[in-house]
Amino acid sequence: MIILAVETSCDETAISLIETDSKVKPWNSEGLTFKILAHEVSSQIDVHREWGGVVPMLAKREHRKNLPEILARIMNNARLPDGQELGIKVDLIAVTYGPGLEPALWEGINFAKELSVKWQVPIVATDHMHGHMVSALLKLNVNGKSQIVNPEYEIQNIEFPVIALLISGAHTELVLLTSLNDFEILGRTRDDAVGEAFDKVARMMGLPYPGGPEISKLASKFHSGFTAVELPRPMIYSKDLDFSFSGLKTAVLYLIKKLGDLSEEQKIEIAYEFEQAVSDVLVKKTSDAINEHGAKSLLVGGGVIANKTIRQALSGLATKLGVNLYLPDQKFTGDNATMIGMAGFLRAKDTSNLLLPDTSTFEELKAKGNLALYK
Ligand code: KG4
Ligand code: ZN
Repeated sequence: MIILAVETSCDETAISLIETDSKVKPWNSEGLTFKILAHEVSSQIDVHREWGGVVPMLAKREHRKNLPEILARIMNNARLPDGQELGIKVDLIAVTYGPGLEPALWEGINFAKELSVKWQVPIVATDHMHGHMVSALLKLNVNGKSQIVNPEYEIQNIEFPVIALLISGAHTELVLLTSLNDFEILGRTRDDAVGEAFDKVARMMGLPYPGGPEISKLASKFHSGFTAVELPRPMIYSKDLDFSFSGLKTAVLYLIKKLGDLSEEQKIEIAYEFEQAVSDVLVKKTSDAINEHGAKSLLVGGGVIANKTIRQALSGLATKLGVNLYLPDQKFTGDNATMIGMAGFLRAKDTSNLLLPDTSTFEELKAKGNLALYK
């Protein structure tokens, strides 16, 4: 089966063309392998940077311009391993319909709908956060075959119940999974998302957007072993699994105001302590969720898991609790369409999720900015 996946929820325009292994049972995810025939992620960071964050209408404009260009390149680049052109017949289109910026999401949806009508193939509407979860399970198959053209991946088997920690620019959530298609949100942020807090703190320190990688770079320069800077760990001892990061962000703001012009050393200390505070809260809440639900595995997804300190802290937690840990490869931490294709494929297991042209469900497919795991 060949899947074309489209992702436009924020400031990345991404398309992937994926072929699932026809040798395995079509809808069985266990040990499922697939090949990436072609893929592209076009970042709009340079367009949004001068505004200090993502501007929805600019994102929309860029997606509209990028989508047809990327599709043309994808179809042109998709090749069989022997270099011959592939007679591509797409069987399924997976598209992100939420959560995200609605003007941006609409561009992907309308594009997918046009292709669906043109090719007469079904659409599966996919939740962006489901994609981030699946991204943690994608593993490159190194089986002696050439991995340069059409690299082969598998969706790793995972033992349930699973706790998923989702940390991105707009989300901070703990989710209980009893299968790769059954979710219960256990807790979420009451205000800012982790990535948002990273971006805002970076901005306060005069660093460019997106701030997460900038803070991360600064923090890694901290070597003195002692810092006089002390920041709060909001809600760390609250009895629920919710988070709050706006107080931490405000604490940084007050600190910066108090210190006045920051030296490079002070910036490094603030970045380091901020990262430690975030990491401590994420570890504590994730630990509580694993213990409360007797989870066998921990899975983490979203752009913030590119952060090395947080990766290490969660690895330590998994070892301590004796659970299996699944973290995405660095190339799958940020937004991409491969994760959407595979989440869509899992979703399409239930054929009632397939939307066909000229049906009412197809007409009703719309962008849902606040989608929370398909609800
Ligand atoms: O998942 P993602 O690419 O887009 C959303 O769906 O939001 O996440 C983007 C977020 C941004 O807030 C960015 O600053 C953050 O991920 N991020 C990081 C790092 N790399 C990206 N945060 C902390 N440390 C990093 N190394
Ligand atoms: Zn994302």
